[in-house]
Amino acid sequence: MTKIIITIDGWSSCGKSTLARGLAKELKYVYIDSGAMYRAITLYFLRHHVDWSDNASVQQHLADVSLEFHHNAHTDQSEMYLNGENVEYVIRDLVVAEKVSEVAALGPVRTFAVAQQRKMGARKGIVMDGRDIGTVVFPHAELKIFMTADNAIRVERRFKELYAKNPNITIEEVKSNLEMRDYIDSHRAISPLRQAEDAVVLDNSYMTMEEQLAWAIKLVHERV
Ligand code: DC
Repeated sequence: MTKIIITIDGWSSCGKSTLARGLAKELKYVYIDSGAMYRAITLYFLRHHVDWSDNASVQQHLADVSLEFHHNAHTDQSEMYLNGENVEYVIRDLVVAEKVSEVAALGPVRTFAVAQQRKMGARKGIVMDGRDIGTVVFPHAELKIFMTADNAIRVERRFKELYAKNPNITIEEVKSNLEMRDYIDSHRAISPLRQAEDAVVLDNSYMTMEEQLAWAIKLVHERV
């Protein structure tokens, strides 16, 4: 079967990565979580106290950042490595989430990440999720999905995920972080989050994972 590029964009905590991962598994495609790349760069900047209002300093530090995805045989999932270190867990922390939208809005950071994302998709057979994948990274992708869900449901999902790791977290913290990220991600000057004109919208507020997957697989068969 011909391999295609599938892009999944949308608001934070809509379940993009769950659907993207499921789809990739079903189709035997590569799954790339582009948000993990922005999170790993943010982690690097925080650890190295980078002043990201200084463009030259951002450029200089990016030269020392190496990002790779490696498959974990135990979890059967691809995980983010920053300069050889597995950071898959730590990049999900609220400390990183609080700053990632600021870092992801920087021009040099986007140029750096997008160039690597395009290389990863050069041979097709890829599902990539993010905010600008269908609009900027792969504007000619064969299938573009734009995901959305009710705000309260997104907050609830995110809260459950973070609470499992940190029981001190409050629903208010999660809600304000999501609102802040949505705002910055959709209002930034470079590659803001928006629906590509040729994207198909999926509101998964009241859908099970199985329903979403079946819906997406049907679309893939129509496009291949
Ligand atoms: O998908 P996520 O929540 O892990 O993404 C983390 C942040 O990275 C999010 O606030 C916006 C940014 N991002 C982006 O700007 N472009 C992408 N393609 C993916 C994520």
